[in-house]
Amino acid sequence: MKVLVLHGPNLNLTGFREPDVYGKKPIEQIDADIRSAAAKLNVEVRILQSNHEGILIDTVQEHRRWADAIVINPGGLTHYSIALRDALMSVRLPVVEVHLSNVHSREDFRRHSVIAPITIGQVVGFGGYGYVLALTALLNLEREVV
Ligand code: DQA
Repeated sequence: MKVLVLHGPNLNLTGFREPDVYGKKPIEQIDADIRSAAAKLNVEVRILQSNHEGILIDTVQEHRRWADAIVINPGGLTHYSIALRDALMSVRLPVVEVHLSNVHSREDFRRHSVIAPITIGQVVGFGGYGYVLALTALLNLEREVV
């Protein structure tokens, strides 16, 4: 299985940015953990972080034939980017939405995701481990391994 993992705006500052909310683990460590879990699960991953909506959309489109699934933390774009949602919808791949923080326990505006309705599901509130949970969930859907 091949999975495209995307981190949206400001997630490059994970570890530094609001550590009480997003955790102390730097994004590089989160990515290393994703890669090591993927290797154990025999999943091929490509990981990209971008602060730019258009780059995220281009990357989704470019991977429409390569990827079997997409794991995405859209950051702030979660709450309003119809363009990113349309791109995810267009490629017709299973999508899992990840949030480091529990978006439901924070400000009201974070409770609403324009992406969620087109996903298989969300993983929220488990920090960087959420990406590993998302990979495992996708694998389980495909192979019923767990
Ligand atoms: C986030 C939650 C979003 O509301 C916020 O804008 C982010 C990070 C999370 O991972 O908890 O940038 O996606």
